[in-house]
Amino acid sequence: MVFHWRFSGHFMRVLGIETSCDETGVAVYDSDKGLLGDMLHSQIALHAEYGGVVPELASRDHVRKLIPLIDALLKQCGLQCGDLDGIAYTQGPGLVGALLVGAATGRSLAWSLDIPAIGVHHMEGHLLAPLLEESQPEFPFLALLVSGGHTQLVEVKRIGDYSLLGESLDDAAGEAFDKTAKMLGLAYPGGPELSRLAQQGDPLRFRFPRPMTNRPGLDFSFSGLKTFALTTWQQAERQDDQLRADICRAFEDAVIDTLVIKCRRAVKQTGITRLVMAGGVSANSQLRQHIDEALEKLGGRAFYPRPEFCTDNGAMIAYAGWQRLQAGQHEGAGFQVTPRWPMSELQAVEGRSEW
Ligand code: KG4
Ligand code: ZN
Repeated sequence: MVFHWRFSGHFMRVLGIETSCDETGVAVYDSDKGLLGDMLHSQIALHAEYGGVVPELASRDHVRKLIPLIDALLKQCGLQCGDLDGIAYTQGPGLVGALLVGAATGRSLAWSLDIPAIGVHHMEGHLLAPLLEESQPEFPFLALLVSGGHTQLVEVKRIGDYSLLGESLDDAAGEAFDKTAKMLGLAYPGGPELSRLAQQGDPLRFRFPRPMTNRPGLDFSFSGLKTFALTTWQQAERQDDQLRADICRAFEDAVIDTLVIKCRRAVKQTGITRLVMAGGVSANSQLRQHIDEALEKLGGRAFYPRPEFCTDNGAMIAYAGWQRLQAGQHEGAGFQVTPRWPMSELQAVEGRSEW
């Protein structure tokens, strides 16, 4: 198969497609002008009545929404399909059916336009999202990835060169937020609501453990905190709104403290004082404040995506895809999805140690 791409590593406009879970996200990244536009359709209302994501409903909704969303985005950006130079879609990790919708659509569209396509690692998308902002970290930097499916501390030497320093051995931070919220009767996805209630909670009433902080290493474990919250709720004499808020506060403080302790440890271990935080939980303003303070004390600095790019979105996929396409990487005519995919398996992007 011979492809005749129009670009030669210069000017590129890349369409990004994200369908790994419960958001349909699309965006166009332009190597010259930056992000031209992004659109998102959230499936939260669809899954709320089930208290969590129903994979088959997610896939079907991506099928319904993706193409109209791409049409609307191109219109908003004043572009035609023919103005695109490449397409990036989320290849994994994620829900297999949901991933297949974005991959099949992206790959077919690229085929019909005779432009290259690339499958992007969802967590690499999160990790690179802060690079869409004005102030960016220099390499190397540390990344704390905190989403619904992953909690990882990563050393980033350059794009695509990632060493895992530590990760959650059980629940991801976002998952622990959501499960604890559900247990306390909050609507799905409970993370943001739990955090809102925590503001009304008494920080001194309960103290939950900071798991795995009293032994060396950079791994996490959050599932015990959920049990701690449940036991505290069940053993209380009166189960009222104040108790709920106090538990939310104790839970949130414990998660934040634990994440901060491990980030501090990672800075000391590596000597790297620039830290990127990304993924859904990085939208949490209390967490940002504590991470900021910790990094400042260590003489370093924290970097984040804007709040709407902390959670799943098409912009991070367009950007990560552009980084790889401009380096000459692309898929063949077929496509595959990779529901489980360690980031360490990614290929480094050559010649991009700075920009
Ligand atoms: O990155 P993301 O959109 O999806 C995955 O890749 O998993 O992350 C979603 C997660 C959910 O668990 C959600 O509850 C959590 O991020 N989240 C928050 C906040 N906003 C989103 N958790 C705590 N505080 C928040 N403000
Ligand atoms: Zn995500």
